[in-house]
Amino acid sequence: MNKLIDSFGRRIDYLRVSITDRCNMRCIYCMPPEGILHRPHDQILSFEEIYRIVNTAVMLGISKVRITGGEPLVRKDLNLFIKNLKRIKGLNEIALTTNGAHLKEHAFSLKEAGLDRVNISLDSLVPEKFQEITRGGSLDKVLESIEAALLAGLWPIKINVVLLRGFNDSEIISFADLARSKPVHVRFIEYMPTHMGKHSYEELFFSSVEARVILGSLGELMPIENGALPGLSPGFFGRNTESAIGFCGGRMYNRGVSAAKSFRIKGFHGTIGFISPVSENFCSSCNKLRLTSDGCLRSCLHSSKSIDLKAAIRNGASDNDLAVLIREAVDSKPRSHHLGAEPAGASSEHFSMCQIGG
Ligand code: 5AD
Ligand code: SF4
Repeated sequence: MNKLIDSFGRRIDYLRVSITDRCNMRCIYCMPPEGILHRPHDQILSFEEIYRIVNTAVMLGISKVRITGGEPLVRKDLNLFIKNLKRIKGLNEIALTTNGAHLKEHAFSLKEAGLDRVNISLDSLVPEKFQEITRGGSLDKVLESIEAALLAGLWPIKINVVLLRGFNDSEIISFADLARSKPVHVRFIEYMPTHMGKHSYEELFFSSVEARVILGSLGELMPIENGALPGLSPGFFGRNTESAIGFCGGRMYNRGVSAAKSFRIKGFHGTIGFISPVSENFCSSCNKLRLTSDGCLRSCLHSSKSIDLKAAIRNGASDNDLAVLIREAVDSKPRSHHLGAEPAGASSEHFSMCQIGG
């Protein structure tokens, strides 16, 4: 099996693929109210072009792909694209990150097409707050989508909560209750400085350390080794995907790498996790590359350096040429970002998550 190893000895086996910069929500921390200026259609990679890149990346050592956006479900023919990806030998896992607005309608057909699992973004459990944060989104639709994803077997299902002071810091226990009653992984994510919207970064930032203190009232948070995340479907533990759970010496382990620190709480069906890019640097275990919807390969979310694979493809690059460029991106992967540095957020490049895909 091929391996992609970067200059700091990290194994790169995970590619996040943004298939669109469009979204049907306008989250306050991601977009201005009027939305962002979208790239014209011809500047967005076609599914055929993305397939070529993924296929080459898998030959080099990528084994997991996550489809992101914007909102990936706004792009037509996604099922067919996933069906095609599924045929790539060596691609062990296809996951999707969605805002859940329309997952309910597509959960079963996506599963049938070959999608393994989903992450669903959900920043409030109070309908009015949810509407305010997403600027118009419907909480009910997302909750229905979570149920549909559970029924369709898109496990393990992760619920991504971006911690936002003054917006959802009073709902931390309610979010944990989701993991109490359902086999889902609720992950609290520290807000990263993306310089979007009218709120200042310092105003909105709420650390996972504070969230953990609040959650302590629910009982002991028992760490799951290596950021492990079980499938959490009864009788489904032995599944052969990178993120499947394994048992060893009576402890739960995950074969995959995760930026999240995960915990079990007694009596909970699901787990609680923290992704703390600001308060706790996890760059040393980073295994990711990111492909933007306009075809740029980025080796770090917090650096604007990228390699233009779209231009290469449209100028006639062979698969071999693409492989050289992908290796170049891996070689250029920086050791670390500087998000924790002072003053808050000043060191990060300006970007919007809908353009890079998180
Ligand atoms: N900081 C942290 N998470 C963010 N996301 C979007 N913008 C930010 C940000 N500035 C999250 C979304 C989604 C995932 C793709 O990234 O809520 O869960
Ligand atoms: Fe859309 Fe996600 Fe950005 Fe919200 S955070 S506007 S759901 S891309």
